[in-house]
Amino acid sequence: MYSNILITNLDNFGRGISYLNNKIVFVENALPGEIVDLKITLEKKKYAEAKVIKYHNQSNFRIKSACPYFPKCGGCNLLFYSYENTLNFKLNKVKALFTKNKISYDKDLEIIKNSHPLNYRHKLNLKIVNEQIGFYEEKSHHLIPIKECLLASPSLNKVIQNYHLLNLKDAELTIRTNTNAEILLIINTPEKTPHIAFDKLKSQIKLVGVVYNNKTIYGNNFYYERLGGFLFKVSFDSFFQVNPYITTELFKLIKTHIKEGSTVLDLYSGVGTLGIVASSLAQTVYSVEIVQNAVLNGNFNAKLNKINNIKFMLGDVGNIIPKLNLDFDTLILDPPRKGLDKNTSTFITTKLPKTIIYISCDLNTLIRDLKLLSSFYELKEYKILDMFSYTYHLESFCLLKLL
Ligand SMILES: C[S@@+](CC[C@H](N)C(=O)[O-])C[C@H]1O[C@@H](n2cnc3c(N)ncnc32)[C@H](O)[C@@H]1O
Repeated sequence: MYSNILITNLDNFGRGISYLNNKIVFVENALPGEIVDLKITLEKKKYAEAKVIKYHNQSNFRIKSACPYFPKCGGCNLLFYSYENTLNFKLNKVKALFTKNKISYDKDLEIIKNSHPLNYRHKLNLKIVNEQIGFYEEKSHHLIPIKECLLASPSLNKVIQNYHLLNLKDAELTIRTNTNAEILLIINTPEKTPHIAFDKLKSQIKLVGVVYNNKTIYGNNFYYERLGGFLFKVSFDSFFQVNPYITTELFKLIKTHIKEGSTVLDLYSGVGTLGIVASSLAQTVYSVEIVQNAVLNGNFNAKLNKINNIKFMLGDVGNIIPKLNLDFDTLILDPPRKGLDKNTSTFITTKLPKTIIYISCDLNTLIRDLKLLSSFYELKEYKILDMFSYTYHLESFCLLKLL
């Protein structure tokens, strides 16, 4: 144990930083200015990780966490802060990383706040271990049993309260919901035969489907979501943003920056959300997505919303686009966390579309890609969208214009 250690800063993951014998130590649930006794939990050559054994003083910025499972559960990282301070943390993090990586942006950084910073999530991935439901503690297979999740929407928490009706001993449970509180359950378990108490479960929640070990055993293997004036069909394995309010804010940004009559290439298109939003202004939209059901959803969603100027292509962006012979002036990028692959960035720097709208859920890969594009593009607009409130994650909206 180490005594009377001063926490000097916060890292990008919301961990306190201190130094022991010139080695950096990342301390869970510790804020700048706090003096603590700590215990090392992981020792590496260049850094160590630690947890607090005793607080000698507490930061004026610390609030009592509203969640009894914080910080053990690891799902939220910033519940020691007021919501306003979590936003400042995100703004400072982007500012510092932009400066460090020489990303030039001459306007003030802006953040679009969440309307409901708690109970906003529409999807949860839970574990059931030995008939108990919860999350694995970070970097472990140790279950933290929970009775509710403060980030999850009330309809998801209703499922958690009634999970015993699923009669599962060991399973991975994904719960998806929509703004109408309908529930789609996706269960993966070694148990071959389901023993779900359907009648009781249906009296508690608006169950629209159960996918059990990849087989639909009740209702549908999809749900619908109505957002921003559009209706979307979403299959159990298709991506959909977890935060409906911030997603509608993202739709507004897309609408603002798509020029009338433009030709749009929408890469990593999911069920077609951003392409469909863009299609009301664009002349034509071409969308590319790797998940087959998401492409089927996209085609269906275009018809559902009476849109006939969008075309979906199934496949890996990196493989498909070098073979595409398309003229387009606007590119929408919304990749997974790993950002752009080499083929895709080479394609962009060869084709050089006038406008790029880059949506990212990973700040590090976004910065890597922005640096790569910076010889050709100016970052005209940048906004943080607080899609993942009370966690260190953030969504970025970037508007890039060809130099
Ligand atoms: C962050 S999501 C964005 C989806 C959509 N734009 C939206 O707003 O709902 C990323 C999407 O990229 C898809 N994807 C991941 N890797 C891909 C690849 N190599 N090629 C094409 N699509 C990919 C995922 O299936 C997912 O639907």
